[in-house]
Amino acid sequence: MSRNKRATKLKVLGIAGSPRRNGNTDRLLKRVMAGASSHGAETKTVVISELNISPCRHCDGCIKTGKCVIDDDMQWLHADLREADRVVLASPIFFMGVTAQTKAMIDRCQALWVIKYVLKLPVAINPDKERSGVFVSVGGRRLHNLFEPAIATVKSWFTTLDIAYVGQLVFSGIDDGGSIDLHPTALKDAFSFGQKLTAGNIPK
Ligand SMILES: Cc1cc2nc3c(=O)[nH]c(=O)nc-3n(C[C@H](O)[C@H](O)[C@H](O)COP(=O)(O)O)c2cc1C
Repeated sequence: MSRNKRATKLKVLGIAGSPRRNGNTDRLLKRVMAGASSHGAETKTVVISELNISPCRHCDGCIKTGKCVIDDDMQWLHADLREADRVVLASPIFFMGVTAQTKAMIDRCQALWVIKYVLKLPVAINPDKERSGVFVSVGGRRLHNLFEPAIATVKSWFTTLDIAYVGQLVFSGIDDGGSIDLHPTALKDAFSFGQKLTAGNIPK
C-alpha cells in the first residue's frame, strides 16, 4: 500500500540556473518547490553552478547512440530530466537570455534531441505519463519584452524533452541580491505556483 503510494508521487525537478547563490531566482525556486512539496510531490533541486557541466561541442558523438560522450554531471541530469513529471527551470535574465550556466545545460540536451528526432525513441522514461514544465525568472530592467527570448529558448528545450510548457512566473525590475523579498506578492505567488503546478492547472 505505502509502496504504491510512493510510486504515484509526482516527481518535481527544480533547476537553479543562477550563479548567484540564494539570489532572487533561488528564493523564488525554493518557494515553488515548497508549494509542490506541500501538495505531496517528491521534489529535488539541482544547482547548475555547483555541477560540472561543459558546453556542447557539437562533436556529433551522440548521433548514433543518443548518449553524450562528455563524462560529467550531465550524464545523471539527463536521467533526472527523462524521469521528472514536472520541471521548474529558474534562471535570471542575462543579456536578454538565460544564464550561460543554464544554456550550457540546455545545449547538452542535444543527446536527448538525437533520441527523439534521429533515433525516434521516447525521451521520457514513462512516455504515457503527462509531463509539464514552467519557467521562473527575474530581470533587473523593466522592459515589455524582457522574458520573451528566454521563454522561446525554454519552450524549444521543453519540446525536445517532451515536456509541455505550461507557464511562467516572472518579475522585472528585480536586481539586487535578495530584493525579491521586498516584492509585495512574489514569494507567496511562487508558493501557490508550485501548488498549481502539481495540481496541473498553471495558467499560460
Ligand atoms: C551578466 C549579467 C547580465 C544581465 N543582463 C540583464 C538583462 O539583459 N536584462 C535585465 O533585465 N537584467 C539583467 N541582469 C540583471 C539580473 O537579471 C538581475 O540582477 C537578477 O536579479 C539576478 O537574479 P539572481 O539573483 O537570481 O541571480 C544581468 C545581470 C548580469 C550579472
